[in-house]
Amino acid sequence: MRKCAMAVLAAVLMGILSGCAAKPADPENRAVVVGFSQLGAESSWRIANTKSVEAAAGQYGFGLMTENANQKQEKQIDAIRSFIAYQVDVIVFSPIVETGWDNVLNEAKQANIPVILVDRMIASENADDLYTAYVGADFYAEGCRAGEYLIRKADAERMEHVRIAEISGTPDSTPMRDRQRGFLDTIGEDGRFEIIDSISGDFLRSKGEECMTFLLEKYGRDGIDVIYSHNDSMTLGALDILEKNGIQPAKDILLITVDGEREAVEALKAGRINCVVQCTPELGDEVMRLVQDLKAGREIPRVTHPKEGAFSDLDDLTDPAVEGF
Ligand code: AHR
Repeated sequence: MRKCAMAVLAAVLMGILSGCAAKPADPENRAVVVGFSQLGAESSWRIANTKSVEAAAGQYGFGLMTENANQKQEKQIDAIRSFIAYQVDVIVFSPIVETGWDNVLNEAKQANIPVILVDRMIASENADDLYTAYVGADFYAEGCRAGEYLIRKADAERMEHVRIAEISGTPDSTPMRDRQRGFLDTIGEDGRFEIIDSISGDFLRSKGEECMTFLLEKYGRDGIDVIYSHNDSMTLGALDILEKNGIQPAKDILLITVDGEREAVEALKAGRINCVVQCTPELGDEVMRLVQDLKAGREIPRVTHPKEGAFSDLDDLTDPAVEGF
């Protein structure tokens, strides 16, 4: 118990020290400690997402213990175990991959600590018993939006045979699986499209560069019509390589990307990317609202998806709504 009280104090102090000392929405929130296991810092999206969760915890007046796992599943498992040992009130957790969580989430369940999944999902036969709520994007719908754009573009440009190389995210992660599935399901029936390759860039800019270099060596500059990349970081890396090789991105090779960070949206406006599918990192406020409702004994929704869309060169890019995070 003493350990727990110390954790509460430490967590509240951590919230204050991290600049999250805004007025609590409810004075009782001060006693609530949230353990947040973030998966890494692989992209601008991830960094914005961490900030969003930390800022929202501060605004709600919760104590927050953040552990960043640097892309290692074992570190996330360790972090969750430490939150259980400290008896936090709620665990907020962004799983790097979908599988391998049953044991640790069963431990949280036995300790009566609710788990809110943020950003990514888990996959397990017993998944329904292992978490209380999910807050994050509908990644399948994002993949569909990428495919829908490509169909419109192919129609507009009267493209007949479209060779697509996919640069995918972290294998076995929800955005990787669902962005791929949504895209394939959307273009699948249309005989104009051929997926010539699919390689993982792990959501990292440096790997986006490596993937693009590999693809150019393998297929040559005239062997690829479209790059479908699962996030902006990898796309921006690929874009650098295209330009270094004298290839005009968005013209010689079409670029479709997901996230909507400022640099990618600026590149879209400058005619260097064709389509940006939005995925918002601003999930913290909704997560903390659910934490507050849970602590107050109110029912909370099982799944919450933020509203998202897509921007492309087929739209009016002077619209002020076209902006990145
Ligand atoms: O899970 C969301 C994805 O993870 C974002 O698209 C990507 O940028 C991040 O690394």
